[in-house]
Amino acid sequence: MEKRLTYFDNAATVWPKPESVYKFMDQFYRTHGVNPGRSGYDLAIEAGSLLTNLRKRLTKFFGGDEDAPERLVFSYNVTDSLNLVIPGLIGKGDHVITTNLEHNSVIRPVNHLVRDCGAEVTYLPFNSEGFIEPDEVKRAIRPNTKALIVNHGSNVIGTVQPLREMGRLCREHDIVFIVDTAQTAGVIPINMKEMNIDVVAFTGHKALMGSMGIGGLCIRKHVEIAQVRSGGTGVRSVDPYHLEEYPWRLEFGTPNMVGVAALWAGQDWLDENGIENVYAHEMKLAKQLVEGLRQIDGVRLYCCDQLKNHLSTVLVNVQGADPADVGTMLDVDHDIAVRTGLHCAPLVHTQLGTVENHGGVRFSVGAFNTEKEVAAAIHAVSEVASWARERVRKPERDRVLMATPAPIGLTA
Ligand code: ALA
Repeated sequence: MEKRLTYFDNAATVWPKPESVYKFMDQFYRTHGVNPGRSGYDLAIEAGSLLTNLRKRLTKFFGGDEDAPERLVFSYNVTDSLNLVIPGLIGKGDHVITTNLEHNSVIRPVNHLVRDCGAEVTYLPFNSEGFIEPDEVKRAIRPNTKALIVNHGSNVIGTVQPLREMGRLCREHDIVFIVDTAQTAGVIPINMKEMNIDVVAFTGHKALMGSMGIGGLCIRKHVEIAQVRSGGTGVRSVDPYHLEEYPWRLEFGTPNMVGVAALWAGQDWLDENGIENVYAHEMKLAKQLVEGLRQIDGVRLYCCDQLKNHLSTVLVNVQGADPADVGTMLDVDHDIAVRTGLHCAPLVHTQLGTVENHGGVRFSVGAFNTEKEVAAAIHAVSEVASWARERVRKPERDRVLMATPAPIGLTA
């Protein structure tokens, strides 16, 4: 019988997806795989309806302005979304506050604006438990602060940031609050109106249970994002410039309708299962994992002393072993998939002091993992740690052997 991979890389992409998502993607693309918004025949209108209804559904899901669903725009993924909003909002002389918890999808576009366009940035450190203190945000505000960009849930250490407090500060100081929900949308409820979030960036292929190749932005009515690309929209083709109205302002070319179908079916799955239940399941397993790993000699865990305001993402290192080697042993010897290295979030590792060690080993538990799989992961790490302890002891043994004079007649 084929051995099933034990998959703990759900922060990279949730896998597998619910069966109903695969089925709907296949069925929709076969029956409605035409270009929406370009032509007037019935099938094109039906395909377009799914797109429009998904805008409405996701606007509600994120607590955006339900009377302006056109401000829910689709992109390729969350990196693409952030690359629309960051240069579309921030320019010369503007100051941005962001954090050491960000992914390169924020760090790089912001740094390009600083280096190439005269913007300013402040990166806030996280505290010893992995949280950004709202007081630190307050202290960083300058008269020219235009935006605060925060990763809701860290893809490295799994901590979930206090958005409400940050949103309140942003509203008081007229700062645009942009939240990267790559790791949280689908497991932690988000309400833009209640939390004073101005822009949510999301991706489809993680806990929203959709597919790769689709993501988007939900933008409140009072925020204007300048368009930074241009092209076909299927609307007012005679216009020599890109349309200013949403959603076309931030959408370019044929939409990813297979991704739209996947996100639609993902929403159905989340409605049926309840995101609170998904979160509770994942956190139960994360607790089991942390408690098990904590017992292993030589295993270091980061920022998960208490799993409150946390995702089921756990970063560890095994003393005496390079994270890449740990990942290889988990894969080759135990059929366990994890992500090792810097996780595209170098500042997290810089602050943790793990860059020198080539990062860490990340376990990210998902909706379809089981207690048995977690127990297998704990057992596998204990074997790797025991190998690493032996390896740490070995140089000492080598030194002792080398110091022992070779028997006469056997010298080289
Ligand atoms: N950002 C994704 C991860 O953390 C791809 O693995």
